[in-house]
Amino acid sequence: MLGLGTVGAGVASILSTPEGRHPLVADLQLRRIAVRDLERPRPLNLAPGLLTTCPEAVVDDPAVDIVVEVIGGLEPARSLILRAIAAGKAVVTANKAVIARHGDEIAAAAAEKGVYVLIEAAVGGGIPIIEPLKQSLGGNRIQRVSGIINGTTNYILSRMAAEGAAYGEVLADAQRLGYAEADPAADVEGGDAADKIAILTRLAYGGTVPRPAIPTEGIHQLDARDVDYAARLGFVVKLLAVAQRVGSEPPKPADTTAAGLQLDVRVHPTLVPRGHPLAGVNGVNNAILVEGDPVGQVMFYGPGAGAGPTASAVVADILNIAGIRQATGGGSGTQGGGLDPLLAAGNWRQCSLVDGALTTHRNYVRLRTSDQAGVIGQIGSCFGQAGVSIQSIVQYAGEGSGAAGEASSAEIVVITHEVLEARFRHALDAIEALAEVHQVAACLRTL
Ligand code: HSE
Repeated sequence: MLGLGTVGAGVASILSTPEGRHPLVADLQLRRIAVRDLERPRPLNLAPGLLTTCPEAVVDDPAVDIVVEVIGGLEPARSLILRAIAAGKAVVTANKAVIARHGDEIAAAAAEKGVYVLIEAAVGGGIPIIEPLKQSLGGNRIQRVSGIINGTTNYILSRMAAEGAAYGEVLADAQRLGYAEADPAADVEGGDAADKIAILTRLAYGGTVPRPAIPTEGIHQLDARDVDYAARLGFVVKLLAVAQRVGSEPPKPADTTAAGLQLDVRVHPTLVPRGHPLAGVNGVNNAILVEGDPVGQVMFYGPGAGAGPTASAVVADILNIAGIRQATGGGSGTQGGGLDPLLAAGNWRQCSLVDGALTTHRNYVRLRTSDQAGVIGQIGSCFGQAGVSIQSIVQYAGEGSGAAGEASSAEIVVITHEVLEARFRHALDAIEALAEVHQVAACLRTL
């Protein structure tokens, strides 16, 4: 095992207590663990000599059949995974950052050597989602994968909604309680969720989309006011990661054009109608809703992070490999025929990200305006002239006092019907140019 942090300790704990688990757990032997600091006190009762500060010593050890990478980060994790594969060893990893960016390179190396690389723990912690997408749902034409796949931000958003608290306040509390990292950027700016949706996209659609090109917006600029207004209008705000086909037509047999299958993949705070299956997912829990033809909607829900849940997924992957090795009498981590967990993860289609201006969706907009006759009419005209249909428009009290000589201000919240992004942007430009509109204060997508 490479790493003995939260997840690594969870894995070691399962492996050292096989009683009551699948009988194969008792056959697994933790041979070596690479750590950064040998002196650090550890609650686990580990055999002397198990720990080393040299990760290469783990990867190169001929007695090691399966390398479990739980260091996280891009390097040295990527190089160590490739080194393990080159040595003919199976790899289990929880590393979404490496798989999202270097999945093709790793899959190609694994295919060449005929070894397994399993990644169930990389998305959704303890929720089984990788194997279901690769195998159980393989016969479907996937229309959309949408999910809450970052527990930290879901915890923050749940508390903002329940308490009406400001983002910064809840983040500080989450850090104090250990739910958010000291450096929360990867979670709150959406990068972690973007890594995960990149991985799910490849499994669902059989093609890679470039991870850096996925439009990503976090929750760090979200105003408690929008969470409140959303609630009044019957929505909850969630950080959603979404991957969907563009257009509802089945793809032509040849997705062989240069662009291939066009996908809309993105991460952003989203207003979710209160009755939607994802709206009730709260706290650090994750949920992924898969919509496929012919299966319909299937939702996967559970603990998306933490030592126990993530270790549960890692150990399941180890057991899969161990089981296949046992069934095939395989040596040195090779597949030996039979079930092929790599097959469905292969790149079998060309995919590309659609131009954002050509996507359609509903929108929530909050405008700060003067509170005077005709303002709502002008805003309505701007939307109407751009071909944007308004579903609802509501005025809330603004901050101005309306004292003598001072025009009072208003906040106007608009929910649009589904519309082409290009039309919506066109309308917003016109609205921003109105003298009575002081600011487009917030703009969020709506399911
Ligand atoms: N930091 C992630 C989250 C867990 O908050 O969901 C690991 O992927």
